[in-house]
Amino acid sequence: MALKRALPLALLLCLGLTACFEPIKDTHPDQVLTKRRALFKQYTRALEPIGLVAAGRQEYKPDEFLALVLDLDKLSSKPWVYFPADGNYPPTHAKPAVWSQPEAFQLAQQKYQAAMHELVLAAQGGKLEPVQRAVDAVTEACKACHKDFRYE
Ligand code: HEC
Repeated sequence: MALKRALPLALLLCLGLTACFEPIKDTHPDQVLTKRRALFKQYTRALEPIGLVAAGRQEYKPDEFLALVLDLDKLSSKPWVYFPADGNYPPTHAKPAVWSQPEAFQLAQQKYQAAMHELVLAAQGGKLEPVQRAVDAVTEACKACHKDFRYE
């Protein structure tokens, strides 16, 4: 009974969110598209509370903030193995450049990881202003990679 009522509610909540439960038919034997997408969703989820603090919309508590940053940092090496040579298939939003320019794609990963490393150092420093600058650099690195390697 409770389940029956909860289901339409979940669907309603999802209407406004693109890609929320977007059913993907993943034809790859290792489901690499599903796996990398799930990781990128985690990126967004982990970045959100960090962004709120950086924007001054949530109080900066250095210890808690550092824990959030370390959570995001743990993800920074994860999605890339899920772009194997045979990993370009619909409905991916990745651009063909991921596979045709592997060195440039790797460089974008390294730039992101470097920005992430700076953010860890800034968070360990415990001062808001350097933290804010480092958060900006991380989000810029997300965007830079998306611009070259992902369709909007
Ligand atoms: C080195 C490149 C690169 C970096 C850095 C990167 N992304 Fe992405 N991201 C991609 C690619 C490529 C896709 C498309 C995946 C696909 O559809 O196959 C993607 C997809 C996504 C998606 C869509 C997932 C879905 O369900 O379709 C989200 C959300 C996302 N990224 C968030 C982020 C955030 C937040 C960051 C930074 C914290 C980030 N990404 C950093 C390359 C990158």
